[in-house]
Amino acid sequence: MDRFVIEGGRPLKGTVAVEGVKNVILPMMCAALMGAEGVTTLKNVPFLQDLKVLMKLIEELGAKAEYIKSDKSVVIDATKIDKTVAPYELVKQMRASFLLSGALLGRFGEFHISMPGGCAIGARPVNFHLNGFKKMGTKVMDKEGLLSATAEKLHGATICLDYPSHTGTENLMMAAALADGVTIIENAACEPEIEDFGNFLNAMGAKITGNGTPTIVIEGVTSLKGIDYTPISDRIVAGTYMVAAALTSGEVRIDNINITHLRIAISKLSDMGVAFDYPADNSLIVKGPSRMTAVDITTMPHPGFPTDLQAPLMACLSVSDGVSFVWETVFENRFTHAAELIRMGANIRVAGDKAIVVGVPSLVGAPVMASDLRAGAALVLAGLAAKGTTIVDRVYHLDRGYDHMETKLAALGANIRRENVRG
Ligand code: EPU
Repeated sequence: MDRFVIEGGRPLKGTVAVEGVKNVILPMMCAALMGAEGVTTLKNVPFLQDLKVLMKLIEELGAKAEYIKSDKSVVIDATKIDKTVAPYELVKQMRASFLLSGALLGRFGEFHISMPGGCAIGARPVNFHLNGFKKMGTKVMDKEGLLSATAEKLHGATICLDYPSHTGTENLMMAAALADGVTIIENAACEPEIEDFGNFLNAMGAKITGNGTPTIVIEGVTSLKGIDYTPISDRIVAGTYMVAAALTSGEVRIDNINITHLRIAISKLSDMGVAFDYPADNSLIVKGPSRMTAVDITTMPHPGFPTDLQAPLMACLSVSDGVSFVWETVFENRFTHAAELIRMGANIRVAGDKAIVVGVPSLVGAPVMASDLRAGAALVLAGLAAKGTTIVDRVYHLDRGYDHMETKLAALGANIRRENVRG
């Protein structure tokens, strides 16, 4: 098991470039399985742990998946698929594997996938996905945790989501792309990743309008083909490096970003006293003040403040001047980083989905444990700003969503190293 050892207190300086976003690359890899002709190549793809798991799953189904390191691309040949069963051993490693369901249902009219369990951040059911599939003519059986779904003739339907679920919207878009007739998804997720995903499906031959809006209209087509595509860059990774620069009173240029996708993060950090410059259309420079000012945050679906940046921002609030109120409305258990930040000297009270953070002048290094991807990121950021040594355990969580985070931070001047601990 790997861990990070961080000697805090160095302002970050330099340039970091952001790669394609995991949370659209994974659905695109699944959607590539709907391309019965041609090969799909996704470019500017970081070789993350989640990607490796999904590549194994894709190969289990009989398709081919290869990562080409030299040009950071993943190539998927789905012309031959001979299975529609995704084994539990792989599915349990990554909830996003459930995105295979919409793709398999669309192309083959069936899927057999283990019910993804809850995870550290919440119960995370898949009822919206399944209800939508059922409206499209699918029968779903749940036997001992294995979900088996079959549709004799998948047909279009009007589906109103109770909540704008991110992967729920993507799964339904995939199934509907190859269904008979028109599907309307109301209260669809509006994240930039959903818009990009719709553009990707259209490039494969789908007919989708309203991508990135609450109403998505999908006119089913009979086939899709493999394509070359470059996914949008990762706004959460960009936001994490923005916070790292701000928190260490550093000055960092972040390249290959879409500034529109980062508006709310920029606005919050500006309110906290962070300065921004824009040297190019797809770059920004973050300049952290000597001490930030406390702000309140409420997480919401896009275009609200993203839940995935709540933990990193809480690391900042821990040392900001004043008192912050944080309300996590998206997931029911996304404050596990708070207890670890408290071990580093933070003053945080959590009550259910709300937290009060009283900013302290500084944090002190301590051994801490990452319990999920973004909680882990928050602890690394706290460690960069803390006095003394911080050891972040269970960095496999970070490897799921940040490509060589320690190398990138070290290139910005951080004193951070990865250690392998046997045990
Ligand atoms: N929900 C249900 N039923 C469903 C689906 C969702 O009740 O059928 C609830 C969830 O339990 C949660 C809320 O709806 O309380 C929102 O969940 P959503 O479905 O939008 O989340 P997700 O699709 O499972 C994706 C990202 C997450 C990100 C959220 C919110 C991927 C692979 N994952 O999850 O990313 O936090 O959207 O934006 O796209 C991360 O990258 O660290 C991460 C957790």
